Amino acid sequence: MPYRTSSYSGSSYSRARRRKKIIKTLLLCFLAAFIVFGIVAMIIIFTAPPKGIENKGTTPDTPALTDPIETEPHVEGFETVEVDLSQLHRGDLILVNGEHEYKNADGYKLLDLYNNRKKYSGGARAYQLSGIDLKLADFVLSELNAMNEAFYEESGLGGLLIRSAYRTRQEQKDLYDARVEKDGAVKAEKYVAKPGHSEHETGLAFDMSVFVDGENTYISDEPEYLPIYSMAYKYGFVLRYPADKVDITGINYEAWHFRYVGLPHAYYMSANDLCLEEYIELLREDYKYSDEHLKVSAPDRDGKAQNYEIYFVPADTNKGKNQIIVPCGYEYSISGNNVDGFIITVDLDAPKK
Ligand code: DAL
Ligand code: ZN
Repeated sequence: MPYRTSSYSGSSYSRARRRKKIIKTLLLCFLAAFIVFGIVAMIIIFTAPPKGIENKGTTPDTPALTDPIETEPHVEGFETVEVDLSQLHRGDLILVNGEHEYKNADGYKLLDLYNNRKKYSGGARAYQLSGIDLKLADFVLSELNAMNEAFYEESGLGGLLIRSAYRTRQEQKDLYDARVEKDGAVKAEKYVAKPGHSEHETGLAFDMSVFVDGENTYISDEPEYLPIYSMAYKYGFVLRYPADKVDITGINYEAWHFRYVGLPHAYYMSANDLCLEEYIELLREDYKYSDEHLKVSAPDRDGKAQNYEIYFVPADTNKGKNQIIVPCGYEYSISGNNVDGFIITVDLDAPKK
């Protein structure tokens, strides 16, 4: 009996051990499956490419896309380029207003309007100048010339007048000081930007009105000249201080102040009724590199659709050099927003050869 008992006890003990072993094995298998599943899920989550320009496959090392990029990304179709932090203050999309000072130390190459307007036979000009010393950034002047020549050739009207263009900081200060003396600082700043805060100091902006019968009038008061407002975006210009955006721009309605931002941006801002402050905010909030990119199809001056993809990369202001992620296969431009990041504009109709 003791033997049987002991024999019985022994077999029940080994069965219990076997059962334990099976349970242990099952648990291990379950754990292993759980770990494998977890790893696969992580790989899927972290290697998802940005939604936008088609990616031809990814590897698991895609960088943290919303953060400044530290390492070479491994997203096919994209690469990083190093950009000096000073570029934050350069480009078509710099936001210069009461809050954000113009800090582009190098400035742009300026050209004078007087010597660079087209001369038509008979000596006619497409537009008028208030003086011989007006200057604009070279790429802005060529767009202004193209716009005003197109307007002149279509309408036969040559009364558009450039009253003011590039201003030095001292010139802006003189204007501001005179206005402050007349109206006090609070009122003055609704009309004349503080020195250091005027778009006129960038060479990207100009004031345009109409000169007819020896009189200077606003474009908005001259029905024949109104089409210039709807043409402007095709040449990359926006009316910078619209009547319905005074609370945002801080500047009263100016029917005359045009700012160059470039075609896709001017088109999108005009079509969606956004001022520059709103547009910069929209790109920063909704179109980061890691988000859906903004796709814009803008009709150019010949009515041909030009296709662009636009996205925002935050700047790391603690670093002198920033790594910016850009497409390998297309021409693109990088503009600082003069606040906190870079805007990349990809020309989808210009694949790199
Ligand atoms: N009038 C505009 C705001 C300027 O002074 O720049
Ligand atoms: Zn102006």
